[in-house]
Amino acid sequence: MNAPLSPLAAASASGADLLLWVAVPYICLAVFAVGHVWRYRQDQFGWTSRTTQLLEHRWLRWGSPLFHLGAFMVIAGHVVGLAIPDSWTEAVGITEHAYHTTAVWAGSVAGVAMVTGLGMLCARRLLTRQIRLGTDRSDKLLFPLLSATVLLGITATAAHNVFGAGYDYRSTVSVWFRGLFVLQPQPEAISGAPLLFQLHALTAFLLFAAWPFTRLVHVWSAPIGYLARPYLVYRRRATPTAAPKTAGRTRSASGSRRAA
Ligand code: HEM
Repeated sequence: MNAPLSPLAAASASGADLLLWVAVPYICLAVFAVGHVWRYRQDQFGWTSRTTQLLEHRWLRWGSPLFHLGAFMVIAGHVVGLAIPDSWTEAVGITEHAYHTTAVWAGSVAGVAMVTGLGMLCARRLLTRQIRLGTDRSDKLLFPLLSATVLLGITATAAHNVFGAGYDYRSTVSVWFRGLFVLQPQPEAISGAPLLFQLHALTAFLLFAAWPFTRLVHVWSAPIGYLARPYLVYRRRATPTAAPKTAGRTRSASGSRRAA
């Protein structure tokens, strides 16, 4: 079922494997952690999504929910596909076939929603002059990196698991991914994976490194409390009574000043 070695894997020596699949991920995770502490201490007031809703809302109204809904589904899929070993899902009665079919369908729907939403967010940023002018260096890093990660992910799914012969990433990419977090890195588990999966994983780690320096920090400040907070009551101000006419007095006052 799994494809032959990718060019990246074929050319790799164990030194290159260590660099790509151990050093780079750990450096990116370290930058992610330290970067968040630094950003929080340096720039608490800039810790926002820097919304541009007031500048443009027609594209945003569709682009933002599509992107965020797709992202939530993709994250859920990644947690199941990467963090949970296939032996666990099989132990609770989910066969490999059932997992694969669900992952391909749900993953494709989620991926298409995310790509469409992100496309709309990028388009409004490029096409709306005021938003383009407000695009800073961190956005110029974030949007291409996010787009590359998402496009490589959906292309890997489409090429191998929708239209291709099928690739069991849970026995390779997922094993490598979990190994990093239990401090038992297994670079050899991913070094034979198809190039698209490798590039997707690498861009994802670069995205993690860029994360604390971009508007993505808003993810950690999602206003979840809004769902449960009491209503805010707004009352219209009572209409003010008509102000007394003072024009005549003013005129006479200035007149008397002039006279003086
Ligand atoms: C190192 C971290 C990551 C790894 C190892 C990883 C791995 C994978 C794998 C194996 C797939 C194929 C799923 C399938 O065919 O069923 C995939 C798909 C995808 N990934 Fe990732 N991914 C990572 C991070 C990310 C991030 C940060 C994003 C978005 C910002 C992302 C977005 C996507 C999308 C949109 C798809 C296609 C839709 C889907 O199948 O869920 N991935 N990823």
